[in-house]
Amino acid sequence: MFAIHIENARSQHGDAIHNLIRLWYDLAPDETHELVMPAEAIAAYIRRFPEGVFVALEKEQVVGYAITMRTSHTPYERPQSWLEAIGGFAFRNYASRGEWLYGVDFFIHPNYRRRGIGTRMYRARFNLVKRLNLRGFFAGGMLAGYHKYQRQMSPRVYAEKVTRGELQDPTITMQLNRGFRSGGFIENYTTDAPPHNNAMLIVWDNPHYERMGLAV
Ligand SMILES: CC(C)(COP(=O)(O)OP(=O)(O)OC[C@H]1O[C@@H](n2cnc3c(N)ncnc32)[C@H](O)[C@@H]1OP(=O)(O)O)[C@@H](O)C(=O)NCCC(=O)NCCS
Repeated sequence: MFAIHIENARSQHGDAIHNLIRLWYDLAPDETHELVMPAEAIAAYIRRFPEGVFVALEKEQVVGYAITMRTSHTPYERPQSWLEAIGGFAFRNYASRGEWLYGVDFFIHPNYRRRGIGTRMYRARFNLVKRLNLRGFFAGGMLAGYHKYQRQMSPRVYAEKVTRGELQDPTITMQLNRGFRSGGFIENYTTDAPPHNNAMLIVWDNPHYERMGLAV
C-alpha cells in the first residue's frame, strides 16, 4: 500500500473522476445515467476553479475526488435540487465571488474507505473556505443508509434520528462527526425514485470568517 496524496485536480483527471462517478452509480460499460457528469464537463470545470476540486492520489491513480463550487446561494434560502444548485453540467451557478462553498460531489473508492482519506479531504475543503474567507461550506448529504430502514420509517424520521445520534448513517454521521450541523431535510434532491431522492442539508460555518468593512 502506498501513501495517499491529496492535491488540487488537474484537467487531465477528468476521465478518472468520471470513471469513479460511474462506479458510484454502478453502471455497466454500455450504460449511462442522467446525473453522471461527462469527463469533458469535469475537465472544463477544473480549468475554471482548480483550487475547488481535489483528488486523492495513490501514485498517479485517482482513488477519490471532491468537487466544490463557490455559490451566491446560501444555506438559509429554499434548498435546491443538486442539478439546480450547480446549474447543470456547465456549472452555470458557479459564482467567482460567491460567499459560500457548495459541496458538488465527493467519493472515495470503496477499497480505500475508512483510512481517513475522506476526513483529510474535508480538512482540505475547510482550509479552502478559510483561505478564501468564505462564510462556510454546505452540501446535500445523502442518506446512504436509509434503504435498511425504509420499511420502518420515512426518510425524514430517519434523518432526524441520525441527527440526534440515535441511528448511524455511513455518510451523514461521518459528516456530522467532522463538524457539520444539520440544516434540515431536502426533498427531491436527486432524480432517484422516491424515497431515495432526499438528502440532509449539512452546513459548516467558518469560525474565522471576517466581514470585510466598507472603506470610508
Ligand atoms: C463518505 C465517504 C466519502 C467517507 O470516506 P472515507 O475515506 O471512508 O472517510 P474516513 O476514513 O475519513 O472516515 C470514515 C469513518 O471511518 C473511520 N476511520 C477513519 N480511519 C479509520 C481507520 N484507519 N480504521 C477504522 N476506521 C477509520 C472514521 O472515524 C470515520 O468514522 P466516524 O465518522 O464514525 O469517526 C465514503 O464512505 C464514500 O465515498 N461514500 C460514498 C459516497 C458518498 O456518500 N459521498 C458523500 C455524498 S454526500
